[in-house]
Amino acid sequence: MLLTKLALFIIPFWAYLASANQSPVMSKDSNVKEVRILQDFYDKVNNNNYTLVKYYTTWCSHCKKLKPVFDTMSKEHTELDVSALLPTTFFNKTFDKLPKFFDEKVNIDYVSVECEIFGSFEICKRWPGYPVIEFIPPNTETSIQISKSSVKEDVEEEEEMPTWLKVFTKIDEWFTSLFAGSMDLDDVSFVERSYEYKGSRTEPKIKDFISKSIGNDYERLLIDYLIANEDNLSKDDEILKTYKEWKQSLSNKFIAVNEILQLLSAEAQTLSETELRDILFQKRILSTLIDLDEQERLRNIKQDEL
Ligand SMILES: *[C@@H]1O[C@H](CO)[C@@H](O)[C@H](O)[C@H]1NC(C)=O
Ligand SMILES: *[C@@H]1O[C@H](CO)[C@@H](O)[C@H](O)[C@H]1NC(C)=O
Ligand SMILES: *[C@@H]1O[C@H](CO)[C@@H](O)[C@H](O)[C@H]1NC(C)=O
Repeated sequence: MLLTKLALFIIPFWAYLASANQSPVMSKDSNVKEVRILQDFYDKVNNNNYTLVKYYTTWCSHCKKLKPVFDTMSKEHTELDVSALLPTTFFNKTFDKLPKFFDEKVNIDYVSVECEIFGSFEICKRWPGYPVIEFIPPNTETSIQISKSSVKEDVEEEEEMPTWLKVFTKIDEWFTSLFAGSMDLDDVSFVERSYEYKGSRTEPKIKDFISKSIGNDYERLLIDYLIANEDNLSKDDEILKTYKEWKQSLSNKFIAVNEILQLLSAEAQTLSETELRDILFQKRILSTLIDLDEQERLRNIKQDEL
């Protein structure tokens, strides 16, 4: 019995090694690209398109239910006009013109990763169960690393990984360690900008999640832009000016975060969606600024020690 399971697990692993020269597989009724080697995954994730990734295993029943939804979306939901999806109100002010970080239309690629094959790599090891849907924005150049926030809605259960699979994953890890070099690729820095989907796995909900994530991604790039350019006097745009005013009006970042948290706990119900989004945006900037201060502080301590 044990040997059979062992064989079942190792065979896909060898199949994976054997297929190392093949490109991603695509079937007729879907445009989902099935990842066969790690490099395919990283090529997809780091290009200019947004990527919706499905992590699955062949044994999980929720994964089977998700398949037709994902396949249909990969055929029909591949291009989005984002101009209507992007927020325009920031710091309690609505702007006609905001910095552009991507074209009005964005493409969405669909990728699936079989985690029986990639179980020993970080891309799969991160997940406690399957299926998982992750939305990964393009690898746009950013000048600072900012903290991520995730879009959370009504949570649907994930299937726990059976114990035997955990054990075989360990064995698989050991096998993989024999092939040094492939690990170099296993760089999950894309997680900084990705969004994990937590809602019910239906088409409208997933589409809504994609739209919200794009709006969130725009905010991520905007925060990066504001922080990177606040001292640049030759930049002359309204939002940068408003940001500087907002920042000057803060007495202290921690107090400001605390005020926001209090406002959210007391009045979240009475705020409009736009106001709520804006306040969360301000909270996100404050966390980023606090994070940057902390990094700076640690750098200074290190320098003092030298
Ligand atoms: C936003 O501005 C309006 C006036 O333009 C004001 O009435 C409202 O209280 C402000 N909201 C917040 C959250 O500061
Ligand atoms: C991005 O998406 C478009 C449309 O689906 C596709 O034609 C293009 O090849 C994709 N780009 C890359 C780098 O895969
Ligand atoms: C300041 O802004 C100008 C105008 O957009 C830009 O050309 C320049 O590279 C920026 N300087 C820095 C240090 O970012």
